[in-house]
Amino acid sequence: MSARVPGPVMVAAGCGGTGRELVAYSGPDGLDGLPFVTRSITLDPRPGSTGTRLVEVPGGLVNAVGLPNPGLEHFLATELPWLVRAGARVVVSVAGSTMGEYADLARRLSRAPGVAGLEVNVGAPDEAGARLFEAREPYHAASVIAAVRREFPADRPVLAKLRPDVSRVVEAARSCHEAGATAIVVGNAVPAAFPDGRSGGLSGPAVAPIALRCVADVGRALPEVPVIGCGGVHDVASARAYLSAGAVAVQVGTALLHDPTTVARLRASLTDSQEETP
Ligand SMILES: Cc1cc2nc3c(=O)[nH]c(=O)nc-3n(C[C@H](O)[C@H](O)[C@H](O)COP(=O)(O)O)c2cc1C
Repeated sequence: MSARVPGPVMVAAGCGGTGRELVAYSGPDGLDGLPFVTRSITLDPRPGSTGTRLVEVPGGLVNAVGLPNPGLEHFLATELPWLVRAGARVVVSVAGSTMGEYADLARRLSRAPGVAGLEVNVGAPDEAGARLFEAREPYHAASVIAAVRREFPADRPVLAKLRPDVSRVVEAARSCHEAGATAIVVGNAVPAAFPDGRSGGLSGPAVAPIALRCVADVGRALPEVPVIGCGGVHDVASARAYLSAGAVAVQVGTALLHDPTTVARLRASLTDSQEETP
């Protein structure tokens, strides 16, 4: 069996909470069948950043949340079983500070019931103090993907999530696909700064034209590689722009913080017109 790419509308990592926060806004079926990417899970718990985590700016948000999460053990014991019971199609986002950590996460998640796939966060904006493995170079990103792919069953998807860096994205997508990624998620928050100069990541409608350019570039250069568009999706038109540029699915992040019904509405509008990609 070959891995299938979830779609056409997914919850983006870190923007659907643990799922419990979203369920009341997800229509009559709740999370049933919803491709849900968890916040990035690390081996050990992370408290996240101290100080301001989110600032609203014209067209979006600047965030420096620091990937707060309860760590793998707690995730496996509580959050994952809840999501599985709710019927979500759970794609676990993984992040680590070493290649070994990524491999360990993949190995242990491969044995956990209900994990539909993994998303490898190799494109997080460089927040101060985030202490993540530096995968900005395409060959570093590809090494992480290869390490994860080796540990995770071939019939379940491994998604490589890249930052929307127009100058490197095609090269990074090619390297990650060759390393075994089932699909490439383009992109993540764009490296940016808070008004006080602290580093963070910009997300929301302001980043859509950048991520869209990256999706189009990857689609033209690598037509055989499934691409998932992520960045500023908030309505049918913004989702369709990615699909028209060749994306097989879209992820919705910041829009959920503004209106948590966004994914349910987009699913209702787009599911009829878009079949899942084999
Ligand atoms: C509050 C917040 C938390 C996020 N947490 C994560 C995370 O844990 N892992 C990850 O890969 N991306 C994370 N992201 C990035 C989003 O998944 C998404 O890639 C990015 O925000 C661009 O999409 P958007 O414009 O629809 O938000 C986060 C974004 C925000 C705003």
